[in-house]
Amino acid sequence: MFGPECCIIIFMSSSIKLKACAKLNLRLEVLGKRPDGYHDLWSVFHLVTLCDELEFQPLENGRIVLSCNDGHLPVNEKNLAVKAARLLQRSFGSKEKGGSQDDWLPGAKITLTKNIPVGAGLGGGSSDAAAALQGLAELWGLELSGPEFHDLALELGSDVPFFLTGGTALVTGRGENIKPLDWKQTCHFVIVYPGFGVSTAWAYKNLKIPLTKGPGFSKIINYDLSLGPDHGWWSGFLHNDLEKAVIPSHPQIDQIKQRLVQSGALGALMSGSGSSVFGIFPNAEAARQAASDLKKTWPCCFYASSRKS
Ligand code: C5P
Repeated sequence: MFGPECCIIIFMSSSIKLKACAKLNLRLEVLGKRPDGYHDLWSVFHLVTLCDELEFQPLENGRIVLSCNDGHLPVNEKNLAVKAARLLQRSFGSKEKGGSQDDWLPGAKITLTKNIPVGAGLGGGSSDAAAALQGLAELWGLELSGPEFHDLALELGSDVPFFLTGGTALVTGRGENIKPLDWKQTCHFVIVYPGFGVSTAWAYKNLKIPLTKGPGFSKIINYDLSLGPDHGWWSGFLHNDLEKAVIPSHPQIDQIKQRLVQSGALGALMSGSGSSVFGIFPNAEAARQAASDLKKTWPCCFYASSRKS
């Protein structure tokens, strides 16, 4: 029932705790605009150890109550974890019990401990949503198939399906096609949140796609994804088309990239639609040292490593 990206810490009949990890886009190519308004991507998503934590406890009469340690986050229907709960209730409440939707509505108290910055291009909200689908399905005893989870996840957001599988994956389409990659390296990252968020919709709207842009696959297929960290490899591989849409309005992102490289990163890149920037370091010690230095300028700065499951 649980995807490998969601580690079950404790499982009791009355409480389920899951970790919802962040992602980095090690490469992100935007191939073109689709008729449905979304963009086709070609991206390598990589799960990391920076995680939110969610706890699910049963409530009666279909009530969904979310509490969160971050007072800035909405705890109403605008929160993706609540949206996931409502979607599950709508989709499976009546089906499971064979009656109308009102006949049987399970509820839940969700406690969200937020560690992943919001609006940061790290997929925090999407990861929370995927964990909510998985945790609540378990809590409520719903037997969902893989494709059912996938369709619900995509309804919640383009990045959500990736978090059902986690690890490292080649993600295409608007985010719905996920091909797990056999990524053997454990990478060491410093992730810097510059102190402001970027709207994903704004970043895509701001992007001018060259008419010559074609599928990026042929470029990337030349990379042996099992190779160890090496400066030349990373500097050629790391790329994010959305940087050119975001950095002109937020030059701090470029400054952070430069500081990461000056601090010993093998390469540095904006993740997703920003605002976070990550640097890849040769080992954990170098990354931890750089994180502690950079924290003096950017307090929201983390060491993280690859998370396979
Ligand atoms: O799917 P999600 O709600 O996370 O996307 C937020 C916004 O980002 C979309 O409304 C769309 O403007 C943009 N987007 C896009 N192409 C994608 C993913 C997101 O244009 N593949």
